[in-house]
Amino acid sequence: MKKHLTRTLPLAVLGVTVMLLGGCSKSTSSETKSDAKERVYTIGMSQCNLGEPWRVQMNEDIKAAAAKHPNLKVVFKDAQNDTLKQRAHVEEFVSSKVDLLIISPKEAQPLTEPVALALAAGVPVIVLDRALLGDKFTCFIGANNKQIGKAAGEWVVKVLVGKGNVVELMGLQTSTPGHDRHDGFMEGIAGSEIKIIFSADMKWLEPDARKEMESALARFNQIDLVYGHNDPGAHGAYLAAKAAGRTGIKFLGIDALPQEGVAYVSQGILDATFQYPTGGAEAIATALKIFNGETVPKEIVLGTRFFDKGNVAQGGLELK
Ligand code: FRU
Repeated sequence: MKKHLTRTLPLAVLGVTVMLLGGCSKSTSSETKSDAKERVYTIGMSQCNLGEPWRVQMNEDIKAAAAKHPNLKVVFKDAQNDTLKQRAHVEEFVSSKVDLLIISPKEAQPLTEPVALALAAGVPVIVLDRALLGDKFTCFIGANNKQIGKAAGEWVVKVLVGKGNVVELMGLQTSTPGHDRHDGFMEGIAGSEIKIIFSADMKWLEPDARKEMESALARFNQIDLVYGHNDPGAHGAYLAAKAAGRTGIKFLGIDALPQEGVAYVSQGILDATFQYPTGGAEAIATALKIFNGETVPKEIVLGTRFFDKGNVAQGGLELK
């Protein structure tokens, strides 16, 4: 085998050299053709913040999916939870002429216009996770927050056997998932004797959730369950209850990152969590289709999984 290799190698080198030389003298038209094939596409990714593990994961998922395609270059910008900064990032991406924009917007209303302007300037836009208003974007990718909220409500009715006092710690009310997770939950508990005795906007942030929960604990002796619109929120509430020495409260969150919510369920910190996939890989797959000139759906709805202590070791349960 080795002998055979040594004998054939010089020939192979010669072959490559001939091919290269041949390539150099090829006509311009075939060069243009191969250039088009190798074209590098630049994607601008506008992330609303990287202070939350879920968003770090989204960027990682985008990076990993893009790394499989050498002709994709992704430029990331982190708006640090500042809407005006995110608006400026969108404008910068448009003026630097990116081939496509991915945005996971902080807030719906103020980011609708810059995205519409990007689209009007000819930049295809994929909106990830938090929706915008209207339809001036190319494709929206995200899980169905209303459905998750409803399933959360139905689960609460089940575990509290139709009756109990709930604290709801809501996601940022100027972002769409914060509304949808609430509306869905109300549908899920409709007709039961579940009462929301305290509700507050914790803006998706664990420290805010902890503070709000301290107020709830000070006001109410009987709290049966906390519904956090995300796992950091539910975890902040858990820490507040623990510090106050209050027991017998159940905690429910959303996100189910393996290293966060799912780990909390395994450790008995949270009673349940619903997966909220980042959509990073789907965003790259959709970008590639757009670059190939294929039409993509206006909306791609991602699935979800449910985790509690009964199913966490088996990887949770798919929600239909
Ligand atoms: C992260 C996050 C997630 C949540 C999502 C909603 O910023 O708060 O925890 O599921 O955003 O958009």
